[in-house]
Amino acid sequence: MTWKGLLQQYSSYLPITSETPLLSLQEGNTPLIPLQKLSEQFGIQAYAKIEGANPTGSFKDRGMVMAMAKAKEEGAKAVICASTGNTSASAAAYAARAGLRCVIVIPEGKIAQGKLAQAVMYGADIFAIKGNFDDALHIVKQLSETDDFTLVNSINPFRIEGQKTAAFEICEQLGKAPNYVCIPVGNAGNITAYWKGFVEYDEHHQTELPKMMGFEASGAAAIVHNQVIEQPETIATAIRIGNPASWRQAVQAAEASNGIIDEVTDEQIVTAYQWLAKQEGIFAEPASCASIAGLWEALRQGKIKQGESVVCVLTGNGLKDPQTAIDTSSLKPEVLPNNQDIVMSAIKGRVHA
Ligand code: F0G
Repeated sequence: MTWKGLLQQYSSYLPITSETPLLSLQEGNTPLIPLQKLSEQFGIQAYAKIEGANPTGSFKDRGMVMAMAKAKEEGAKAVICASTGNTSASAAAYAARAGLRCVIVIPEGKIAQGKLAQAVMYGADIFAIKGNFDDALHIVKQLSETDDFTLVNSINPFRIEGQKTAAFEICEQLGKAPNYVCIPVGNAGNITAYWKGFVEYDEHHQTELPKMMGFEASGAAAIVHNQVIEQPETIATAIRIGNPASWRQAVQAAEASNGIIDEVTDEQIVTAYQWLAKQEGIFAEPASCASIAGLWEALRQGKIKQGESVVCVLTGNGLKDPQTAIDTSSLKPEVLPNNQDIVMSAIKGRVHA
């Protein structure tokens, strides 16, 4: 059967009426890949949910297709969002598809190149402010209250509805919920959505519930420290957020599931980022790798036991942020003259060394 996208696949779980346009870029249906080396090393069953396989390269497409379809249904002319990059890329793509105008507000100089390239290509109206994501979100919220813009940040409940479908897919792929879900936390919409998804799917299919393990970056760990961070800072720009909009819901998801919200340092994130690509062949963006770094930390602390199943959510594709990949890698191309003998001996010298 051909995949028709989330709105058709999960229509009975979503707020879809006869008036809702069945918008789609064939989002969802992403791979769940076993993490073989990690599983062997720790005696667990670890998997990665590859959300970078979505049409714009991140999990945002799941929520955006729903939010954009509802905006269209309600007769909106323009959508607006603040973003650390992925939300804006997704909003711009789905707005283009739906024929809506898209306005995005981003923190200047703090979004990865690939994400900016997407927003430009999809034709959004882009405003880069000399402030952070939290400042941008404040502005777009105000505008959407007083003006004719539909807000498509994750405080739009339709975003959460769409994003919860990732939990459904995981239950279907494994036959039941895993024991643990490790997930990066920025604005905290995704952990909220996953928890809602697992609870709903369990009600229908008795798939049980995982413990939700959310991980913030240490320089932006507002929830962990129960304190707004005025100047959040992290290499993982996607989660450089100091006052998460779904703060309360994230705490609730962790508490209700017997999970945790914890933090990982930039150093731990970069180690996980490099390790994942080199050892498992999976290139995910830095923020995504907070889930792997967090899993390691939980294993080190003995929170996760042998034999248990864990899904790490890899929220975005590594190609989104080529600069961080290059800057954090020690491997550089060796530049050589165009001479067969020199090239051959250089290769042999390296590989047989
Ligand atoms: N991972 C990636 C790659 C993200 O882009 C984000 C959020 C998160 C994790 C965290 O998800 O906010 O639901 O807790 N990016 C948003 C954006 C803020 O604007 O693209 P969250």
